[in-house]
Amino acid sequence: MAEITMSIRRARTEDAAALSAVSDAAWREAYQGILPALWLERMIGRRGPRWWLSTVSRGRPLVVLDVGERVAGYVSYGRCRDRALPADGEIDELYLAPEYQGLGFGRRLFKAVRNDLEDRGAKRMSVWCLSDNERGCEFYARLGGRVIAETTERFAGIALKKSCFLFR
Ligand SMILES: CC(C)(COP(=O)(O)OP(=O)(O)OC[C@H]1O[C@@H](n2cnc3c(N)ncnc32)[C@H](O)[C@@H]1OP(=O)(O)O)[C@@H](O)C(=O)NCCC(=O)NCCS
Repeated sequence: MAEITMSIRRARTEDAAALSAVSDAAWREAYQGILPALWLERMIGRRGPRWWLSTVSRGRPLVVLDVGERVAGYVSYGRCRDRALPADGEIDELYLAPEYQGLGFGRRLFKAVRNDLEDRGAKRMSVWCLSDNERGCEFYARLGGRVIAETTERFAGIALKKSCFLFR
């Protein structure tokens, strides 16, 4: 039987093209029917390999999940960017390519980030999720997050609710 390995590691500049492909597929699948189509296309278009190259080089932590030889997902995170929140750390984005969802990889990525933030002294962690992204919200609730704030953001004129989950 073939053995498939998985690992979680820091992103490298050579991952830019793979990160672009994963985010393209994941964003399309997660947000079609939620975010305005034109806005979504524009965002996906902006996040090409060049955008990822500069993001990888920027210094805010970014880790990738390798499954076999493929980049299957990524998480970006760091210090909480909103001082009004009772959190030290924050997950900015956590995305898996659609074919790798529902297999426990999201939980593993989340745990790896949680451990890394704790090692950096960030015990309380926040993450924002569009409230209409039911799967994302269920995932964070299932992992023990509690909604502590809600806000509305406009996307191409459409107002959408976002929920902030806190993990302590
Ligand atoms: C959200 C996401 C990261 C979850 O990762 P995943 O690998 O599919 O989730 P896991 O298999 O690790 O599941 C972890 C837990 O969440 C629960 N969960 C996952 N998807 C769920 C769903 N659609 N409904 C209810 N619970 C769900 C699982 O039941 C599991 O709990 P359990 O282990 O106690 O049974 C992944 O689906 C994804 O990348 N979605 C698109 C991007 C996105 O929405 N990101 C979040 C916004 S930043």
